[in-house]
Amino acid sequence: MTVPTYQLHHLCIFEKHPRDAMWNWLRWYHAIPAYYWEGIPDLHHTGEGGVDYTFLACGAPFQMQLESPPYQFEYERNWFAEHGSGINHICWIVPSAYDTVDHLQSNGAAVAMPYEEFGDTYHGFVAIDPEGRWVEVMSYPGEFKTPDVEFRPVGLPGLQTLGVVQLCRDLDSQVEWYTGVLGQRIILDARSANDGLAYLADHTYEGRQCLNVLATPSTEAEHALMERHGPVISTILYQAGDVDAAWRDAVAAGFGEVAVPAHDDRIGARTGYLREPSGNLVQVRERLAA
Ligand SMILES: [Fe+2]
Repeated sequence: MTVPTYQLHHLCIFEKHPRDAMWNWLRWYHAIPAYYWEGIPDLHHTGEGGVDYTFLACGAPFQMQLESPPYQFEYERNWFAEHGSGINHICWIVPSAYDTVDHLQSNGAAVAMPYEEFGDTYHGFVAIDPEGRWVEVMSYPGEFKTPDVEFRPVGLPGLQTLGVVQLCRDLDSQVEWYTGVLGQRIILDARSANDGLAYLADHTYEGRQCLNVLATPSTEAEHALMERHGPVISTILYQAGDVDAAWRDAVAAGFGEVAVPAHDDRIGARTGYLREPSGNLVQVRERLAA
């Protein structure tokens, strides 16, 4: 079969208290393009219960989904019992989620949640990549779609989401898997001897500029996350016109300080680190020239 197109859409944070945690984001130039909360008659009620989803966006197509317990499905509850609050998955949009199940399975992925159709809203399933990180695959069969936001830098620091960082054990093999199986191309290659990082993008990069960064842990905070969780989706990645101002504003908004902005030799750009309420890292880098 031909390789389906996979388009980066959102990452999902499992968070015990999303309606408290989201204030950090709302104070830091983010907005809520969509929410599906328990008690609202909507698509997210199944036989296993209702859910509480909130989407957050900041000036770019890549969004964050905050999701609270009790989780809809047993496999999600098991993950939360083991890992606690953290980034649970990255979601990709494909033309047909159904056709994609075989494609991923025959390329070394396991299925965590079987394919399911949620009425005429979305169809999807959850796979596990070769190192154990979760990959949600969705398709929209009709009119329904999570709203997009305007694509332009927000606030005086010019902040925008850029994508996600996934920490790998065997970096080269994961770059090969995400390029070969998910059809991504390398935008920036800062690897040597199976160490470092690579910026990958899907086929919409020219218009949407979303990144999936695969990296080996380099900071103390990244090593600690990897020791606790194994290969993990570790970081929400931003770019800003003024990195220092964006970083200071994040601290004022309630994010934890991890490392003040400094030149990162690997990518040749000024970068600062923070921690968000669920324990994930937040990385703010200088603007990436498209
Ligand atoms: Fe999701």
